[in-house]
Amino acid sequence: MSDGIIPTRAAMEGGGYYNRHSAMQAAGNAAALALWQSAANSVAFGDEPLVIVDYGSSQGKNSMDPVAIAIQALRARAGEERSIEVIHTDLPSNDFTSLFNALESDPQSYMTGSTGIFPSAIGRSYYEPLFTPGRVHLGWNSWTMQWMSQHPVDIPDHIFALHSKSEDVHKALLLQQARDWRLFLQRRASELRHDGRLLCLFPGRPEDRVGWEWLTSELWHALLSMKHDGLLSEDDLLHINIPTAPRKLADIRAPFATGDGAFAGLRIEHSEILPGPDLHWDAFERTGDPLPLARGWTGMMRAFSGPTVASSLSAKPNRAALVDELYGRMEASLASNPRRHEHFVAVVLLHKVG
Ligand SMILES: C[S@@+](CC[C@H](N)C(=O)[O-])C[C@H]1O[C@@H](n2cnc3c(N)ncnc32)[C@H](O)[C@@H]1O
Repeated sequence: MSDGIIPTRAAMEGGGYYNRHSAMQAAGNAAALALWQSAANSVAFGDEPLVIVDYGSSQGKNSMDPVAIAIQALRARAGEERSIEVIHTDLPSNDFTSLFNALESDPQSYMTGSTGIFPSAIGRSYYEPLFTPGRVHLGWNSWTMQWMSQHPVDIPDHIFALHSKSEDVHKALLLQQARDWRLFLQRRASELRHDGRLLCLFPGRPEDRVGWEWLTSELWHALLSMKHDGLLSEDDLLHINIPTAPRKLADIRAPFATGDGAFAGLRIEHSEILPGPDLHWDAFERTGDPLPLARGWTGMMRAFSGPTVASSLSAKPNRAALVDELYGRMEASLASNPRRHEHFVAVVLLHKVG
């Protein structure tokens, strides 16, 4: 097993693909909107322009509702004329074109019919400082913290570390997740204004379960079948890793467990793990047709993992065909054996008190 450290650089599948295949993430976000609204209702501000940051926006479709809710709540308190800056951040490789197109033309865009709202974007990892200290009133961060800042270890028996049987892989994963969570919190704590709020929503897991077993093992088995057919080598499989994993509540709370319960000037105002939605299974139960379910879940998996798989195969001239083959095999397998996708969502609201 090598300890090759590969920073996470691949964003979501481009050309608006993530926007078209992220209904699961949108449904998860909906569960946090009441809490988010309460945060916007209570954050303190003066006469300054108000600043909302969307950390890890991807292509923007799923940011429209949360940002619109925050704008409405802030303007109900500050007046309809108050200028508001909305800054979307993501990795430099993100498809920002789709984000700006969505702001212009998505019927749900928070820009529709509004004045005095100033959207912009930053293409830089949020493990770096992104704003001058004390600039941000409200931070929204959904479905990103499962991504580690780097691929911490090769995984011999899976592409997702948490589903490996290796204790060493698990140890490396937990260490990386703990470091990333603390660094992310420190960076955001510096950027938030006093009394600012940051809402983070990401894959979570209860103490006794992991979740995602079905879809992650289907992707792994599709890779194994391609190796069996001579399309991929043992070495290819070793290097295709998707550096994502859910977190337990105890791991989320760990940085806050010492002293006065604050970490880097942040306190947890709310934290919980909820069962995640499965829209495709609900539709399958109504119609009995497994194809939309298979397409829906394969599209979701490809939207987030496809670019990382493609970058692992970058030396191969036929990599686009290999990636199509991989997700084609996955879709066929899901259609032949449809199941409910079990997963969990962590919702954490942080308050800048220091
Ligand atoms: C699954 S998408 C979530 C998009 C959107 N927030 C939502 O709720 O659907 C995850 C996003 O996190 C971004 N991301 C991952 N690591 C990041 C990092 N270190 N800095 C900034 N963005 C990151 C990815 O590029 C991707 O666009």
